Amino acid sequence: MPNLLIVPAAGMGRRLGRGEPKALTPLAGRPMIDWTLDALKDVSFARVVVAAPPGREADFEVVVAGRADVIAGGETRSLSVRLAFQSLNPSSADFICIHDAARPLVSGAETRSVAAGGEVTDEASLLERLGFPIAIVRVSRLGFKVTTPEDLEMAEALLRCREMRIGKRETDRT
Ligand code: CTP
Ligand code: MG
Repeated sequence: MPNLLIVPAAGMGRRLGRGEPKALTPLAGRPMIDWTLDALKDVSFARVVVAAPPGREADFEVVVAGRADVIAGGETRSLSVRLAFQSLNPSSADFICIHDAARPLVSGAETRSVAAGGEVTDEASLLERLGFPIAIVRVSRLGFKVTTPEDLEMAEALLRCREMRIGKRETDRT
């Protein structure tokens, strides 16, 4: 069953208040969506689609760097998801994962457990209404969504801490 991935990233981060698409906001030295796409790479997806703010596709292409197709999103998150869904043109055998660009700290284990048939939030009620089975998996609080400047500061601190730990492990090994 092919796994397909939709990454809604077309929001402008109004509450973050930086006047730029939230997914492009620098976070611990890299754009947020760069972290998010890396965090999701534990599962092999047959196709990945990133919904970017209309008109900003080229900027996203640079950051995405071939890891996904970039499409123009819509005015609301649900419209962005719908447009990405249409561009994937999935068959009923496909398994579609949806992960917000604004959740850069999702873990590999969580991504794997969802691709085993798991967590859904925003889309859950819609699918439930359509009669599809819904499964919930417990995820870590690190899967939080970056919404406010405080969230950005927390994500920055956590990612820098994580990088320091990885750096230390590599130094210890040499
Ligand atoms: N999103 C989207 N298309 C929209 C609005 C939001 O793809 N028209 C995406 C965002 O890019 C984000 C996720 O949906 O990855 C969750 O949305 P949210 O946290 O609300 O992000 P923003 O809409 O960018 O933030 P704000 O509401 O503060 O403007
Ligand atoms: Mg929003």
